[in-house]
Amino acid sequence: MKRIFPVLVLVIFIGGAESAGAVDAARLYADKCAPCHGPGGRGGPSAPPHKRNAFITEGSPEEIKQVIMNGRQGAEKKYPDFPLAMPGGLVTEAQADALVPYLKGPLQTGKGGVPRGRCGPGEHRGPRCGRGMR
Ligand code: HEC
Repeated sequence: MKRIFPVLVLVIFIGGAESAGAVDAARLYADKCAPCHGPGGRGGPSAPPHKRNAFITEGSPEEIKQVIMNGRQGAEKKYPDFPLAMPGGLVTEAQADALVPYLKGPLQTGKGGVPRGRCGPGEHRGPRCGRGMR
């Protein structure tokens, strides 16, 4: 029990810090989605693109939110070329609510999202953004 306590405090602290402000969807996307879906949703080796993807641009917000919250695994999977499953539980419901309009809006237009080749707010230069990323 003594060993678990500091970890619990940390989890509560991080959780509290995240829910304190409005969700920064661009930052969240860069952190939690771009590792698979590629910077700016342009697709990656393990997951389909979100940019110019009809499921995103024309699909119902509710359906997109369900995939973000619950993932898509097993028989529900749609892309045989990507053997990986879409994991569920990556984000909270509030974060999913913020991600849906981000996916349909700024991510498609590039306006207000993470600009091409530029780091998002608070994002450090690295493999996901910066000079090498054009
Ligand atoms: C571990 C890799 C991984 C991560 C991280 C990930 N995804 Fe996915 N995602 C996938 C894969 C693989 C699929 C395709 C599943 C399939 O075959 O239907 C997918 C599918 C999707 C789809 C459906 C796309 C379509 O065309 O039907 C949406 C929406 C989606 N992801 C949103 C997100 C969001 C938002 C995040 C960040 C919170 C995220 N994903 C993080 C791997 C990932």
